[in-house]
Amino acid sequence: MALSLAHTLFFFLLLLPTFAVAQTNGKITVGDSLSTTNNSSWLSPSGDFAFGFRQLNGSDFFLLSIWYNKIPDRTIVWYANGDKLAPRGSKVELTADRGLVLTSSQGEELWTSSDQSLAGAVAFGVMNDTGNFVLQDSNFKNLWQSFQHPSDTMLPTQIMERGGVLSSRQSETSFSKGRFQLRFLQEAGILVLNTINLPTVDPNGPYYQINSTAGDLNTSNSGKQLVFNASNIYILRENDERITVADGTILNWNNQYFRVTLNFDGIFTLYFHPKTSAGNESWTAIWSRPDNICQDNPGESMTGVCGYNSVCKINQDKRPKCECPTGYSLLDPNDPYGSCKPDFRQGCNEDELSSKQDDLYRLVVLADTNWPFSDYMKLPDFTEENCKNSCLQDCMCAVAIFSFNNICWKKKLPLSNGRFDNKGKVFIKVRKDNSTLPGPLQNPVGKKKNQDGLILVVQTHTAIRGTKGYVAPEWFRNMPITAKVDVYSFGVMLLEIICCRRCVDMEFGEEDKAILTDWAYDCFQEGTLDVLVGYDREAMDDMEKLERFVKVAIWCIQEGPSLRPTMRKVTHMLEGVVDVPIPPCPSPFTTA
Ligand SMILES: *[C@@H]1O[C@H](CO)[C@@H](O)[C@H](O)[C@H]1NC(C)=O
Ligand SMILES: *[C@@H]1O[C@H](CO)[C@@H](O)[C@H](O)[C@H]1NC(C)=O
Ligand SMILES: *[C@@H]1O[C@H](CO)[C@@H](O)[C@H](O)[C@H]1NC(C)=O
Ligand SMILES: *[C@@H]1O[C@H](CO)[C@@H](O)[C@H](O)[C@H]1NC(C)=O
Ligand SMILES: *[C@@H]1O[C@H](CO)[C@@H](O)[C@H](O)[C@H]1NC(C)=O
Ligand SMILES: *[C@@H]1O[C@H](CO)[C@@H](O)[C@H](O)[C@H]1NC(C)=O
Ligand SMILES: *[C@@H]1O[C@H](CO)[C@@H](O)[C@H](O)[C@H]1NC(C)=O
Ligand SMILES: *[C@@H]1O[C@H](CO)[C@@H](O)[C@H](O)[C@H]1NC(C)=O
Ligand SMILES: *[C@@H]1O[C@H](CO)[C@@H](O)[C@H](O)[C@H]1NC(C)=O
Repeated sequence: MALSLAHTLFFFLLLLPTFAVAQTNGKITVGDSLSTTNNSSWLSPSGDFAFGFRQLNGSDFFLLSIWYNKIPDRTIVWYANGDKLAPRGSKVELTADRGLVLTSSQGEELWTSSDQSLAGAVAFGVMNDTGNFVLQDSNFKNLWQSFQHPSDTMLPTQIMERGGVLSSRQSETSFSKGRFQLRFLQEAGILVLNTINLPTVDPNGPYYQINSTAGDLNTSNSGKQLVFNASNIYILRENDERITVADGTILNWNNQYFRVTLNFDGIFTLYFHPKTSAGNESWTAIWSRPDNICQDNPGESMTGVCGYNSVCKINQDKRPKCECPTGYSLLDPNDPYGSCKPDFRQGCNEDELSSKQDDLYRLVVLADTNWPFSDYMKLPDFTEENCKNSCLQDCMCAVAIFSFNNICWKKKLPLSNGRFDNKGKVFIKVRKDNSTLPGPLQNPVGKKKNQDGLILVVQTHTAIRGTKGYVAPEWFRNMPITAKVDVYSFGVMLLEIICCRRCVDMEFGEEDKAILTDWAYDCFQEGTLDVLVGYDREAMDDMEKLERFVKVAIWCIQEGPSLRPTMRKVTHMLEGVVDVPIPPCPSPFTTA
């Protein structure tokens, strides 16, 4: 059974093909170096593998890595600095004392193969034909091997000892440490797949495991090594018995490249790729685990593959896909595996409690879905009608499931581990009318009249409005992005334009600015950017861009100056060249 994975091919095409030149015949001597600027790499004697810098698409950053060099994908199989990318001008040098040392042009040390001094012992580096980069002393004794410090991939001939770990990357294109791990446990030589809750590193309970001692109570026969031989992966036990992990036996295996990768979505997959290629081949999956990551017990982590409020579906190729339910959309549009947010306001706010809840909300039926860990109330002996009403009238309730045995389950936000299930009828609560603001407005904090006679009403839950003038739809194109504007003022200006782009001449006083920044963050958090722009059609046409701008603005107005990005970063974020992380609250100490 061969599963084709077009999207892995996709990504590798995104990496710019910059490196053509190669040096050496696998052997590197102390003092040799590579830089991001001269396109060189160190090849293995056969040319199958290369070691060097790979430029990340559309950025000024580089990844020190090893890749399959003869196939068009030039698939990366090992990387050193996924969490600390190397800016242009960085170089890596082979030193006698510290092995490989990666430094930026400013002299900052970004990565080194050895934290401790090797006392001048390093004599050579070898890019081996197996894909292993090895450091040796003058007697050709191995001092360090990339095979012993794997990233997310293992190659044929590679062996993992007890205590070894593979870490997934964050996404297909982001090489920083992701949420998934493969560990070959120190104590028993059991192979497990588990998640971690970033940024902490403690493993959660496994979502898949291979019991190398199953059926054998003699613990001194536990697993010793995880071995990748030719196209097969097995656990070698202390008594030399083998337990098959992956049987990748295919005809003419000798004409294929292989790799096994812990993908960013947690699926551990064995692939092959023809060695001689016409240029149109891609990696084909021959084995993967687990079979259905959506259904697996999340361990104590309580988070699934997909983010909160999302629903996990398994594709034909056993890779998961995440979907937001009706009425919800991605919190970060660039992260399809991330959490979903309601596209409407929901909660136990005062203004809403005063209205009849079933006037505000309706229930939409979802097919065969469950969030099994989000229950907060069980109502036995209920009718379907009672179940629906109970949820509609309960401001805590986000989802109700009426199960076949007449039990009503009420679920609250955030919903976790969304997945296929057919235990009953599923109702998700959405606001009937998301185009108007609910209830009476509260807390009027200012009422002003500016010199042009515009009434400017600033309230916590209504828009700052004006009518004079017009800013071109290109939004920020006319923004003065110059060194003269500090990042903070720029952020405030950006917010002014976002929520009042049709009123160029309007003056914002200090108090208005403070209200504006608080309010913008509230709207962002509650997912009500449409309110922020006053339902301006043009702005809402490109919600993705709008959200990006608001996020950038919130980064700029952080009270802690050290949190604010540089102007250069701001420009990149606005242009969409780099991702914009979710900003924290701009004034962490003053919010209630
Ligand atoms: C990568 O670069 C190509 C061309 O240089 C461009 O078309 C593509 O949009 C870029 N992709 C990303 C994700 O930046
Ligand atoms: C590196 O390769 C790129 C793309 O092939 C090329 O544009 C650039 O000039 C090269 N740089 C050097 C220093 O050779
Ligand atoms: C590449 O740059 C490094 C560091 O500047 C230098 O040592 C090395 O000789 C260069 N290689 C080539 C092929 O120009
Ligand atoms: C280097 O590759 C050869 C096969 O090309 C293999 O026999 C040898 O074990 C490899 N050495 C290391 C240290 O990986
Ligand atoms: C391994 O053992 C655990 C606990 O005994 C069990 O739940 C699990 O199904 C076993 N896994 C396999 C692959 O046999
Ligand atoms: C490794 O795989 C090759 C090819 O299938 C086989 O001939 C060889 O016996 C295997 N080696 C071990 C140690 O299993
Ligand atoms: C456990 O296995 C070891 C090594 O294989 C063997 O020497 C020992 O006798 C076994 N112990 C028992 C109780 O079977
Ligand atoms: C690649 O192209 C060749 C010739 O153009 C064709 O014969 C072959 O079937 C193609 N392979 C794939 C995997 O598409
Ligand atoms: C408002 O509701 C309509 C119909 O349910 C939906 O198509 C639209 O996307 C919603 N708008 C927002 C901003 O969520």
